[in-house]
Amino acid sequence: MEFSWEKAKRPILALAPMEGYTDSAFRQLIKKFVPGVICFTEFTSADALKYNSKTSFQKLEFNPSEQPLVVQLFGKHPENFIESAKYLEQLGIAAIDINMGCPAKKVIGSDHGSALIKNPDLAAEIVNALVNVTSLPISVKTRIGFSSFDEEKFQKFCLNLEQAGAKLLTIHGRTTKQGFSGKADWEPIYRIKENLKIPVIGNGDIDSGETAKQRIQNLDGVMVGRATFGNPLIMHEIYNALNPENINPDIKLPDWINLAKQHVKLSVATKGEKRAMLEMRKHLAMYVKGFPGASEYRNRLVRIESEKEALGLLNEIKENSA
Ligand SMILES: Cc1cc2nc3c(=O)[nH]c(=O)nc-3n(C[C@H](O)[C@H](O)[C@H](O)COP(=O)(O)O)c2cc1C
Repeated sequence: MEFSWEKAKRPILALAPMEGYTDSAFRQLIKKFVPGVICFTEFTSADALKYNSKTSFQKLEFNPSEQPLVVQLFGKHPENFIESAKYLEQLGIAAIDINMGCPAKKVIGSDHGSALIKNPDLAAEIVNALVNVTSLPISVKTRIGFSSFDEEKFQKFCLNLEQAGAKLLTIHGRTTKQGFSGKADWEPIYRIKENLKIPVIGNGDIDSGETAKQRIQNLDGVMVGRATFGNPLIMHEIYNALNPENINPDIKLPDWINLAKQHVKLSVATKGEKRAMLEMRKHLAMYVKGFPGASEYRNRLVRIESEKEALGLLNEIKENSA
C-alpha cells in the first residue's frame, strides 16, 4: 500500500536522519523492537546521485523491514532532485525528505541544507519540481530560522513549502546559528503548526517518554535523534509513552550487551567486516556509557578490528558485570 503522511498512524514517532549513525543496520535494529517507528535515512546528496556516486548508491541500500522508509536528500539543483527521485521510485522507498536544516559550515557554505531557509523561492522550487515528477510524498526537515526565529518570515517560508506541495514538515526547535547549542524551543513549532494544513513533526532534545509526551501538544508527531546513541531502545520507551493503549507485551527487549551484539552483526551483514568495524567503534563506545569500567572498555572498543574481537569484548564486559 502506498505510504501517505496524512494517513500515517498518529502520533508519529520518527527516527531522525543522522549522518554517520542512522544507517541500515541501526534502522533495522530499531524497527525490530519498535516496528511503529518511521525511519529517516542519513542525508544523501542529490548531486552525487545524479553523477552516479557509488558510495551514495550504497548509502541507499535498505532492508524491507525498514519500511516505510523515508530517504533524505540534500542539494540545491531542482534537476538533480528530479533525477534522484526517478531512481528512488525504482528502489521502492516510501517517501522523500529534503534537508533544509543542516547547519554544518561545509553544507551551508555551498548553499545546501539550512541555507535554503534564506532562499525560500529555491526551497519551494525544489519541492515543486519533485512533486511534479513523483507520486512519492515529499517532506522537508528544517529549523525555526537561520539567525533568529522571525515568526512572520518563517511562517511564510513554511506556507510556501506547503503550497509547493510538501506533505509534511519536521521542524527542529533551534536556529541554524545555534547549531546544537542551548535548548530546543518548541513554542515556535506549535505556533507555525496552527497555520498549516499539512502535518508537522517537532524535533529537538527529546530524551525520554516523558519529554515526548510533554512536547507533542498540537503536533502530529515527534522525531528523536541523539538520545538513541548507545541506547536505541529509548525508542521503545518513547513509543509506549505516546501509545499507552497499544503496548505489545510480546516484544521481549534484549539487555544492552545483546543489543550491541545484534548491532555489530547487522553492521557486518550490511557493510562488510572492515567498514563495519570502523563505523561500530563510535556506537560501541556509547553503549558502555555509565557502565563500571566504561573508560577502559571504551579505549578498547574504539580499536576493534574484527567482528570476533568486538563480540569477544562485549562478552568479556558481560562476564565482568555479572
Ligand atoms: C551526528 C548527527 C548527524 C546528523 N545528520 C543529519 C542529517 O543527515 N540530516 C538531517 O536533517 N539532520 C541531521 N542531524 C540533525 C538531527 O536529525 C536532529 O535534527 C538533531 O540532532 C536534533 O534532534 P535531537 O535533539 O533529538 O538529537 C544530525 C545530527 C547529528 C547529531
